[in-house]
Amino acid sequence: MTASPQTDFARRYGPWSLVAGGSEGLGASLAAQAATRGLDLVLVARSRQRLDETARNLRDQHGCQVRTIAADLTSRQAVADLFQQTADLEIGLLLCNAALAPIGPFLEQDAEIQDQTVALNCLATQAMVHHYGNEMVARRRGGILLMSSMASFQGTALVAHYAATKAYLRVLAEGLWQELRPMGVDVLASCPGPIDTPAFRRTKPHLPLWLLPRPASPDLVARQTLDALGRGPVVIPQATARLTARITRLLPGRLQRHMVSAGTKAMYNS
Ligand SMILES: NC(=O)c1ccc[n+]([C@@H]2O[C@H](COP(=O)([O-])OP(=O)(O)OC[C@H]3O[C@@H](n4cnc5c(N)ncnc54)[C@H](OP(=O)(O)O)[C@@H]3O)[C@@H](O)[C@H]2O)c1
Repeated sequence: MTASPQTDFARRYGPWSLVAGGSEGLGASLAAQAATRGLDLVLVARSRQRLDETARNLRDQHGCQVRTIAADLTSRQAVADLFQQTADLEIGLLLCNAALAPIGPFLEQDAEIQDQTVALNCLATQAMVHHYGNEMVARRRGGILLMSSMASFQGTALVAHYAATKAYLRVLAEGLWQELRPMGVDVLASCPGPIDTPAFRRTKPHLPLWLLPRPASPDLVARQTLDALGRGPVVIPQATARLTARITRLLPGRLQRHMVSAGTKAMYNS
């Protein structure tokens, strides 16, 4: 297949999109969506083999250019190296998707994994937004996606630490929407419910029939997320997840935290 003609999306957010965590799951779907809209891709993840497979599929299906960078973004040095490795590219769309999501009681979690969760979900994202955001503002155009979660809307048992990092990302996006939009850069936090990705399946969830929406397909979440760029600072992809979030947020805070925590405990049989 040949490269797509330049779309409005590509004019606004092209020519290159960097996808942190772009080798599988939602990140691979976001990369495919960006390619469908005419962008070339930089994929970043740890596993060289998965990166190469995904890059090959994207080149075959979309005719786009794909650069792969194998890096562990929990390392500050790796993030600094990433900036060097992309210095020759105009990154118009930054998709901050990679995350760690430890599940279980906070006090029983490994403290080092908790540090890595902040390093990846918060610090690496903050550094990438700072670096590429400055370049976008200088060009007066661009887009930044921070992958948050419905978990960002309330403190929740078993995912307390993860949810707190996702709240950081959502609140950061809301503030940056205000700061950067007048300078031509759109910032968005996407807050999906469960998504049927390999990482989600590896957590072996029991899906309760109440409270939590059914897992969404990564392609649907990716499409609805990129459709929402420029329309506001926060999107909840998938209609049932939006409805669940609306109903939950009508409840008093104490009840909301109790019900969502009960749903999460049921999901992980705890
Ligand atoms: N799945 C869900 O139910 C769900 C729900 C709401 C929000 N989200 C959010 O959606 C995003 C994507 O989730 P996901 O389920 O697709 O899986 P994920 O495990 O969060 O992300 C997978 C991608 O990130 C890469 N990655 C993981 N750790 C990395 C690191 N230290 N450095 C660089 N890359 C790293 C993985 O490749 P390597 O392993 O090879 O590094 C892979 O490409 C996350 O931000 C997640 O919090 C997910």
